[in-house]
Amino acid sequence: MADGSSETKSSNQMWGGRFASGPDAIMEEINASIGFDKKLYAQDIRGSVAHATMLAHQGIISAEDKDKIVHGLDTILSEIESGAFEFSRRLEDIHMNVEARLATLIGPAAGRLHTARSRNDQVALDFRLWVKEELQKTERALTALISAFLDRAEEHADTVMPGFTHLQTAQPVTFGHHCMAYVEMFGRDRSRVRHAIEHMDESPIGAAALAGTGFPIDRHMTAKALGFREPTRNSIDTVSDRDFALEFLSIASIAATHLSRLAEEIVIWSTPQFGFIRLSDAFSTGSSIMPQKKNPDAAELVRAKTGRINGSLIALLTVMKGLPLAYSKDMQEDKEQVFDAAESLELAIAAMTGMVRDMTVRADRMKAAAGSGYSTATDLADWLVREAGLPFRDAHHVTGRAVALAEQKGCDLADLSLADLQSINPAITGKVFDVLTVEASVARRTSFGGTAPAEVRKQIAWWRARN
Ligand code: ARG
Repeated sequence: MADGSSETKSSNQMWGGRFASGPDAIMEEINASIGFDKKLYAQDIRGSVAHATMLAHQGIISAEDKDKIVHGLDTILSEIESGAFEFSRRLEDIHMNVEARLATLIGPAAGRLHTARSRNDQVALDFRLWVKEELQKTERALTALISAFLDRAEEHADTVMPGFTHLQTAQPVTFGHHCMAYVEMFGRDRSRVRHAIEHMDESPIGAAALAGTGFPIDRHMTAKALGFREPTRNSIDTVSDRDFALEFLSIASIAATHLSRLAEEIVIWSTPQFGFIRLSDAFSTGSSIMPQKKNPDAAELVRAKTGRINGSLIALLTVMKGLPLAYSKDMQEDKEQVFDAAESLELAIAAMTGMVRDMTVRADRMKAAAGSGYSTATDLADWLVREAGLPFRDAHHVTGRAVALAEQKGCDLADLSLADLQSINPAITGKVFDVLTVEASVARRTSFGGTAPAEVRKQIAWWRARN
């Protein structure tokens, strides 16, 4: 593209007389955003094509100028995509880089493109288009993750594992049921994504600097051409709003938090002590010194990405708080946060989808763990209520004594003899042993949303119809 001297000239022309001597190095350093906003080149060019087409349609610029502009923009697009385009920091941002190149390519007609628009509505447009696409990508990625979980849940609807509270064995559940808990979480994340797309589906272009314009533009036409539902309704709000970016980051933070909890479970489950799962080699690493080790690195990194994503949300919230309406340059700091969070989230979801699909579930280990730790104590208490007519509080007390006795004997509840149990409460009969196995325990929990395999299969079918 332009050499150093003509570059200075074109940048000075853009800035106008007051900055005729050129910004000094520090100003250039703090002011330039091209280093990161070049990511918006495709959106910028799309927006300009739609704007120029509308200007010509409304008779604001001539059809010839529009054709030159659109042709020039096409050339610039291929130059950028082939790597031939030289970005210049002197030209500050993607908008001025594209416009300056257009001037070199097509001459004075380039100057007509910026009629009835400002960089304020231009950047709002470019960034919205980018975030909207990213939300759509996130929606698809979450769908793939949910589908991986549905497959594992179906496969393991009958696999019994210990359910935990306080990370202490609580009651037996099925692995399928546990998987479906994540389906619910990621399903809510996806519905938040869908709502965010709905909120932000309005076109900013035509708000101009902040007050709108006197040119007879057609904002409905540009909105339609760019795939938005409608134009935004308030030009001041349009150039000062970044809550579409904040909404993306909040959704990303919540989803990352869900991913991080899953990552933590994977880390715990894959320890030799738990041994509930084995990770595939693809998602783990060996140790350079301890040959027996298999480390869950991918899960750990997903857990760590959450910190970055949450950090981006807090950073942008802090940038935006206290900004008077309408545009302030502070808002240029919105992009890197969103770009970084988007990249981290995409990677984290992909890694998790891979881990969920690839991990080996060790049903034998899960079942053995489910049976220890007196996990069917609640079933004994429930039996005493149902079959022996005890009030639940008394049944709880009797069960506590049975657990204490088993502990003292070093055995599980199901290993106590009938005589042992009757010594605690004579109303207990041999039938009680039917409820003390982990399979019986989960099979009985048929309440809506409960862990019984039949109920879990219903939940899977419900989600399959919606995924
Ligand atoms: N690079 C700027 C940004 O990202 C574009 C908008 C500049 N607008 C202005 N009035 N200086 O926010």
